[in-house]
Amino acid sequence: MKKTIIDPIDLTVEEIDGLIALADDIMKDRTRYQDVCKHKILGTLFFEPSTRTRLSFESAMLSLGGSVLGFSEASSSSASKGESVMDTVHIVSNYCDIIAMRHPKEGAPLVGSKHCNVPLINAGDGGHNHPTQTLTDLLTIHREKGRLDNMTIGFCGDLKFGRTVHSLLKAMARYDNIRMIFISPDELKLPEYLKEDYLDPAHVDYEEVTSLDDVMGELDVLYMTRVQKERFFNEQDYLRLRDTYILDLKKLDNAKKDLSILHPLPRVNEITVDVDDDPRAAYFRQAANGRFIRMALILSLLGLDHEVERL
Ligand code: CP
Repeated sequence: MKKTIIDPIDLTVEEIDGLIALADDIMKDRTRYQDVCKHKILGTLFFEPSTRTRLSFESAMLSLGGSVLGFSEASSSSASKGESVMDTVHIVSNYCDIIAMRHPKEGAPLVGSKHCNVPLINAGDGGHNHPTQTLTDLLTIHREKGRLDNMTIGFCGDLKFGRTVHSLLKAMARYDNIRMIFISPDELKLPEYLKEDYLDPAHVDYEEVTSLDDVMGELDVLYMTRVQKERFFNEQDYLRLRDTYILDLKKLDNAKKDLSILHPLPRVNEITVDVDDDPRAAYFRQAANGRFIRMALILSLLGLDHEVERL
């Protein structure tokens, strides 16, 4: 396994399947794993806000018996004095055994990895990639549907800026018989480079539509996303587009009975709270899964994934 995970496809399909199997095993009895990372330290370098990713990384390392250090905003680090990302990561890599890093600029974790002495995981870089969210999504789809192939997945909302969508489509495109439906307003369509570089028409069947209602009945998985205010250049465009898709119980009338609704969260108003009690709403289970797949990734990157068998 590579030691720097910037993009979900830095991991092979076999490695991802192995991480899912390991996460499933951890979820069965996590006490078996509680000391495997004793004396190991995770560094969390978060230059951009986060709830789920940072805290689930921290929870993952603590659940493995390790410790955590880091910062949750650039203003509390020497980045505020002008220190470069490369130097920051270089320095912190002397103080820990593995790093998870989030940054608002695309490519920053790759730059940071250049002089990093320990494994580095991209915890989200601008509108680019979010590989551990993708692993969380794949674990969730596997647990909900029992498979990662032979399905139709609808991606709905901000497909232009949404790094979780960009990452997940790259990973899903490698499984067999996947149909993708991209549902967005014209202004928030998927960037062309993703279609050209990752959606081989010989392997992935995809279409782009503007109406969620028109395709709802075809979906096995619906991946809802938030319109990302922080990535818009002007507030007027954000206000005009933010309410384009609001999923409520009425809209689910035409959906399959075994649809799985995912959302990387945070949600603003794109899923109404009455949907939360529908058994098809998988997004809170998805958020919980994030801790276990990050445990599996930390163990694998530190070469400790078989350690539990020896203990
Ligand atoms: N899904 C996700 O990345 O959430 P946070 O921004 O809270 O980490």
